[in-house]
Amino acid sequence: MRGAWITLACLLGAYVAFSRFRAWRRLAHIPGPKIAGFTDLWLIYKTWRGSLFEDLGEVCKRHGPLARIAPNHVVCGDPREVRRLWAVRSQFDRAPWYKGFRLDPPNDCTLSMCDADIHTALRAKLAPGYGGKDIVGLHEHIDEGIARFVKLLEDKYLSTPDQVVSVDFSRKVQYMTLDIISKIAFGEAFGFMDNDADFFRYIKTTEDTIPMMQMFALVPWLVDILQGPLGKSMMPTERDAFGLGPIMATAKRVVAERFGEKKVDKPDMLGSFVRHGLDQREAEAESLVQIIAGSDTTATALRTIMTHVMTNLDVYRRLQAEIDQGIAEGRISTPITDAEARKLPYLQGCIKEGFRIWPPITGVMPRISDEDATVCGVHIPAGTNVAWSAHAALRDREVFGADADFYRPDRWVRATEEEYRLMDNSVDLCFGSGRWGCLGRPVATIELNKMVPELLRRFDFAALNTERPIVNKFHGVLIQQDLVVQITKRA
Ligand code: HEM
Repeated sequence: MRGAWITLACLLGAYVAFSRFRAWRRLAHIPGPKIAGFTDLWLIYKTWRGSLFEDLGEVCKRHGPLARIAPNHVVCGDPREVRRLWAVRSQFDRAPWYKGFRLDPPNDCTLSMCDADIHTALRAKLAPGYGGKDIVGLHEHIDEGIARFVKLLEDKYLSTPDQVVSVDFSRKVQYMTLDIISKIAFGEAFGFMDNDADFFRYIKTTEDTIPMMQMFALVPWLVDILQGPLGKSMMPTERDAFGLGPIMATAKRVVAERFGEKKVDKPDMLGSFVRHGLDQREAEAESLVQIIAGSDTTATALRTIMTHVMTNLDVYRRLQAEIDQGIAEGRISTPITDAEARKLPYLQGCIKEGFRIWPPITGVMPRISDEDATVCGVHIPAGTNVAWSAHAALRDREVFGADADFYRPDRWVRATEEEYRLMDNSVDLCFGSGRWGCLGRPVATIELNKMVPELLRRFDFAALNTERPIVNKFHGVLIQQDLVVQITKRA
């Protein structure tokens, strides 16, 4: 009997070794960390540790623009190639990794949909709303949210010459973006700023959940189990008092008003979705997507811009001077309009550098093709996951210059038209691209164009943790904490 067990164990061991060897050999022509050729654990570990952004950049620096990062994953760090892979007519589609982001398995939403045709049809129903043309009051909702935020800071968090009041700006900023996006999505703000608290632990829950989701997404069989009947009991529901639950409950309630016999039609984002043919379940899911995809990302971009502005005196002075001068010359209204902000070159440079240095989404976002392909001049067999390295692509020295590792808004101000276009094409990748690109980009752009000037025209900011102004964790989504600042009112 014992002999039979030993034989079985040996056979199993030989099978595992042989299948690992076969998987390794398939992409053996692509360099990369040695261990990554045999196991997914390298990639999973980096995701869990929160260093994925830097580590993938390091891999591309060491092994070239195309490197292997798992038995069936390669990473591309050349921004021009990434753009080609993500283009509308590319042979690559979303890889099964995206299924890990289903909000209501087995149903898909825009974030998780891999089938290109179904996705395109869904996107056509969403695009008019996201584009803003169908929505009345989009700019006003954003202005109201910023004004509420200004009031919160003025009421509770101003430092004076007699006393420093420290405030964790990273949290407060997210209260603002959550209230703004909920107003846009549901017509009612959640009230984070009124409560001045993460009052149903939404932020804490998402910060805890994101690293898990990003790790699980790398293991498709685990995703299948978690999204099957067994795992579904662990998924959030609208009955939960904390985390995503209250947001799901709001989505259900608000969406229900738009369907049925007494349905109401409003000129808002949800109204646009419904008018363009979303059914009730889809409308609930896509409203949730707005909150999940559109609050933390914008908050991260704002935190990153403010952190770099606050910690670089030259940048700070020049940005504030551009805003002050615009106000003095009557080129900036109260509140600033999106069109006015677009005409401020240094502000635009500050915003673009923010996306470039620490992009809010740095996950692998792999694409897959059912035919063989060539990427960076290297043969890629069909069925290989091709990820991107945001770090390598957004700090490419050929595109951004020898100081690509540094935050320098001037590179945008001084660039020739051709240089600007090349840099812009690369920074655009922060929002995805082509048929899968971010639908909320116009909304996020308006928000940032307004938020930065509205804050810097009224207040001065100073980072108080001078040793480490902010804590960044790159788990595929950038999680930021502890941007502790002092805020003073400007004369
Ligand atoms: C700074 C802010 C933002 C960044 C950096 C960002 C980035 C991204 C990225 C990288 C993707 C995935 C693209 C891909 O899979 O290739 C995405 C998708 C998406 N984002 Fe954003 N996003 C931001 C703000 C927003 C906002 C404010 C909203 C909602 C109002 C939003 C809604 C969406 C939606 C619906 C998708 C799915 C698009 C699709 O699959 O067709 N995003 N975003």
